Amino acid sequence: MATLVPLSAVDPEMIEQLLDRSFGEDRHARTAYRIREGVEWLDGLSFAALDEDEYLVGTIQLWPVALTDPEGRNSPLLMVGPVAVVPERQNEGFGKMLMIAALEAVAASATSDAPALPQVMIGDPEYYGRFFGFTAEPTAKWHCPGPVDHARLLVRCDNPAVLPEEGMLGPWPGALAS
Ligand SMILES: CC(C)(COP(=O)(O)OP(=O)(O)OC[C@H]1O[C@@H](n2cnc3c(N)ncnc32)[C@H](O)[C@@H]1OP(=O)(O)O)[C@@H](O)C(=O)NCCC(=O)NCCS
Repeated sequence: MATLVPLSAVDPEMIEQLLDRSFGEDRHARTAYRIREGVEWLDGLSFAALDEDEYLVGTIQLWPVALTDPEGRNSPLLMVGPVAVVPERQNEGFGKMLMIAALEAVAASATSDAPALPQVMIGDPEYYGRFFGFTAEPTAKWHCPGPVDHARLLVRCDNPAVLPEEGMLGPWPGALAS
């Protein structure tokens, strides 16, 4: 029986080892890392999956970022990822469990005054679109601090009309979900 725990309950070194196995040790050069450079993942929105023997098999991290429009206005967003499941336990539902837990925590962070922040990620649309409603359409004119395949720059939002048409993604501690 799998268990989900807050990511803060896991030894940080074990998280790094899992991410190295899933994405390779050169993962730090990826554009996704530059978008969230210098900010910490959000406790309360980040989770780990443990298997029946309490081994760490997956993690998900969410980060405070923003899209800065050409006029310099910041639109806070939550960056989702990496989502990682160890190779030998993929396709057993751990990825969906982690995504559902994080997206439910995001929804629960909404208040009557402040709707849940939109979520952005770089990932496979065949997975994150099919199961969780992420789409690349609103991000066509979003820029990143590094190369990106726009078909993989995905966003999920209750009301896409609030999303700026154009801007640059980057870290922004002010995007903290409360
Ligand atoms: C992508 C990942 C998080 C999915 O988690 P998972 O636990 O393996 O997958 P789940 O069990 O939740 O979902 C399985 C379903 O998703 C599909 N799927 C899994 N990974 C997929 C991918 N990268 N693209 C498209 N579909 C995918 C499977 O075919 C399966 O479909 P089915 O239900 O029709 O049989 C995981 O495979 C992983 O960590 N991969 C390595 C890192 C990576 O490439 N991440 C993506 C970029 S962020």
